[in-house]
Formats: sequence, C-alpha cells, structure tokens
Amino acid sequence: MSGSRPAAVMVLAAGEGTRMKSRSPKVLHSLCGRTMLGHVLAAARELDPDELVVVVGHGRDEVSTEVGEQVPQARVVVQEEQLGTGHAVRMITEALGVFRGTVLVTYGDMPLLRAETLRRLAACHSEAGNAATVLTARGDAAGYGRIVRDAGGGFVRIVEDSDVTPAERAIGEYNSGCYAFDGALLADAIKRVTTDNNQNQEYLTDVLEIVRRDGHQIGTVLAADAAEVQGINDRVQLAAARRALNDRILEHWMRAGVTIADPASTWVDVTVTIEPDAEVGPQTQLQGQTAIASGARVGPGCLLEDTAVGADAIVLHAVCRRAEIGAGATVGPFAYLRPGSRVEQNAHVGTYVEVKNSVIGAGAKVPHLTYVGDAHIGERSNIGAGTIFANYDGVAKHRTTVGHDVFIGSDTVLVAPLTVGDGAYTAAGSAITADVPSGALGIARGRQHNSEGWVERNREGTRSAQAASRARAALPTRGDDPPETPAE
Ligand code: UD1
Ligand code: CA
Repeated sequence: MSGSRPAAVMVLAAGEGTRMKSRSPKVLHSLCGRTMLGHVLAAARELDPDELVVVVGHGRDEVSTEVGEQVPQARVVVQEEQLGTGHAVRMITEALGVFRGTVLVTYGDMPLLRAETLRRLAACHSEAGNAATVLTARGDAAGYGRIVRDAGGGFVRIVEDSDVTPAERAIGEYNSGCYAFDGALLADAIKRVTTDNNQNQEYLTDVLEIVRRDGHQIGTVLAADAAEVQGINDRVQLAAARRALNDRILEHWMRAGVTIADPASTWVDVTVTIEPDAEVGPQTQLQGQTAIASGARVGPGCLLEDTAVGADAIVLHAVCRRAEIGAGATVGPFAYLRPGSRVEQNAHVGTYVEVKNSVIGAGAKVPHLTYVGDAHIGERSNIGAGTIFANYDGVAKHRTTVGHDVFIGSDTVLVAPLTVGDGAYTAAGSAITADVPSGALGIARGRQHNSEGWVERNREGTRSAQAASRARAALPTRGDDPPETPAE
C-alpha cells in the first residue's frame, strides 16, 4: 500500500461525554495505561502527518495538557460550544485554513483503532482517487450513523441514529467515525453543512452527501474488525474496550514468547515491555514503563508500576512502584517496593518487607518483617527478622549505610543517620543509635535479669505456677534458693 503521508489528521475531542457521568472529560478516561485520547493520538502520529490537530472544548485545559504531553507538536483548536462534529471541523478550517492533500478525521473516543487501519483507509482513499472515503463496519449498528446505499450499492449518505426511518434503522452497515477527505473539498463543503436534523447540530457526516451531490466520488472501506471502531460513550463500553485492548496486548506478548498463565486475570499496559521466556502469573498487573527481562517470573498476585525486573528474577505477591529488581533477585511473597528501591543481583527481599528509596546490595538478604527506608545495604549482608531502619525523626529523613557482609541481628532498630561498617554485627533486639565500626558487635539493650521463683510467689494457683512447681520438684535437691543472678 502507498506510504503517502496525510497532510493532516484531525482528532475531535471537544464533547463532554455526558453518558460517562464523570467530572473528567470523556476522552481522558484511561484504559491499558493511556487515556482514550492518548491511544487515538498514538495511532494518528504513526502515520506521520504534516499536522496533527486536536479540537478541544469541554474540559479544554485538561484535554490540552494531555495533548501537549502526548504529542507536543500537535495543534490545538478550541471549539467554544459543542455544536456538532461538523462544527468542530469548521472551527479547524477557520483557525488553520485549508489543508491541501489527504486529511484524516477521527474521533477521540475510538481508542481501539489501529494505526494500520488508518493507514489502509488513507491508502484506499488515494488509490481510488476518492473525494472522501468512510471507514464503515458491520454488526449491531444501534447508536451509530447508518450507511445508506442506492440500488446499485453506491454510497448515498449517512443518516444518524436519531434521524433514521424504520427502514434505515435495519441497515447493518454503520459509520465508524473515521474518514479520509480531500482537504480542499472538505474545507469547502464544511461551510455548507446545516443544522437541519433532530439534534440541531452540524453533522460532519453531512459533508459526504454534499461532496457526492457536487459530483465527486465517495468510497467506503469496511473495517476488518468491528471491535476496533467501537466508539466509547459510557463506562460499560469503556470496560469492554479495556478487556479487548488487554486481550490484544496479551496476545502480542504470548506470540513474542512470553508465558501468560491466566490471560483472564492479567492486565498489561501498552507501555510495558516483556522479553521472551518471561512468565507472568495470574492476578498480575503490569503498568507504565515496567520492563520484564527474559526468564523472570512475575506473579501470581503482583502489581508492578514503572518497575524493571532483571533476568531470571522471581517476584511473587508483591507491589512495586518505580523500583529496580536485579537479575536473579527474589522478591516476596508479600513485599512492597516503593519508589527508588533497587534490589541488586541475587538479593532477596522476603515476606512483609517494605523498602523505600534504598539499595539492597547484590546477594544481600532482607527475609522477614522489615522496614528499609533511605538505606544502602552492602553486598551479602543479612538483615535479621523484624529490623527497622528508623529514617524519620519526626522532622527530617536521614540515611543509613550498612557495609558489606554485615549481620544485623533480629529486631534491631537502626536509628539514622548511621553507618554500620563492613563485616560488623549488631546484637538482636538492639536500638543502634551510633555508628558501628567495621568488625565490631554493636549491642544496645538492657541486660536480662531473672527473678528466680517469682511466678510461684506472685501467681499462686495459676497453670504457670503449677508448671513451675513441677519443674522445681523434678530438679535434683538443692540447698537454699540461689541468689538472684544476671542471666548473661
Ligand atoms: C458519531 C457519528 C456517527 C458515528 C459515530 C461513531 C456524527 C454526526 N455522527 O456519532 O455517524 O456512527 O460517531 O462512533 O459525526 N465532538 C466534538 N465536538 C462536537 C461534538 C462531538 O469535538 O461538537 C467529538 C466528541 O468529543 C467525540 C466525537 O466528536 O469524541 C464524536 O462525538 P459523539 O457525540 O460521540 O458522536 P456520536 O453520536 O457517537
Ligand atoms: Ca461516540
């Protein structure tokens, strides 16, 4: 097919979308990691048009911001009042003049539309030498404009759902809302569209009849996949579109060599990348700029946002945001990696562990019940169960540095700012408030004192007291009770 670039792609996105019942403009609702409008813009820019124009109106500030983020070079035209799709295109021609060449027009509420389909529409349009070409679809036409043809099958006009006669209602071919026009003819015909219809709107669809009556040739292209041209008007249609797009994304990755155990419960954004031989388990969502390397196993039960997972790493029942997981590392079950967390090669973050803005060095282990905040843990160090990196003094955050091959005893509190040198130890249950030099044992806790016979004296008649008596009776006979002694 010809690769001719369109002079312009116009995206209409000024409508409110009342059927969404939402504070946000309809086209800003998201599916699979992008707004509806974002998907449409991504497809449009793949055609590399000379100009990409977006009409905004309802929620124009928010919608313009989204356009600027997605396609900074796009032109934005404001439609003050939403007087119809034809009026929207008229606002573009009034603001920007005539585009010479092929102009594609599409709507901001068609997120499933593929760039290939737009390209095929443009190619058929120029190969046939049409003045205008409509992308149509077949199936349940309820709600859509119907394609009216003459006895010979030639295109006559599009009649809107709200204007159909009973006979026209039965037509099974409908307007997708995507068109290719000759730019000069469009600019002329758009001025002649009236509001003579049941919605008192300027319909873009009327341009086709006007151009045909002028004696020009109108063509149609049937969409291969009707699902692709679904217009989203409410949240039920949005959910269906999300499901369909997700299926498309998962199929792409499975065909590229990724194992997806349960596609029904796996959700992957369009922006995610996954290498062959990675495995994605059930109940898993991969979002944003997440990247999964070959041989990694993610899931069941993971939510990963903007997270890189290295080759052969294992991530199980974890929530990870803006984190990096090195090759061969293991995370979870039940771990939470917050932004700025880097788990290096072959390191392990285990169960009920939360990590924030910290590095877990290569081969280091943080296996159980720990909070690591604003810390750097060296290679091969072991962090005992229940360790807390106390990074916040109520006013400011402070950092902790733990060297290589360190052993942090269970239930240690490391009160930042703090440095624990290479090869140092801390005793279990210590509240470490000062640096521990390399190779030292840091111990910071009260000494244990055993008050002999306390239970029998103070808890007479309890099961504990009875057990203590039995244990004492079983001991070899002694003289007087020994004096109380420190335990250590
Ligand atoms: C439109 C088509 C219909 C087609 C259907 C496909 C017309 C008159 N009808 O109907 O033939 O089958 O799409 O989904 O075009 N918009 C503006 N300014 C406006 C009005 C709408 O920018 O003044 C934008 C909306 O934001 C939306 C798009 O145009 O993204 C389509 O508008 P919508 O009201 O959804 O049109 P439909 O009634 O679905
Ligand atoms: Ca619509």
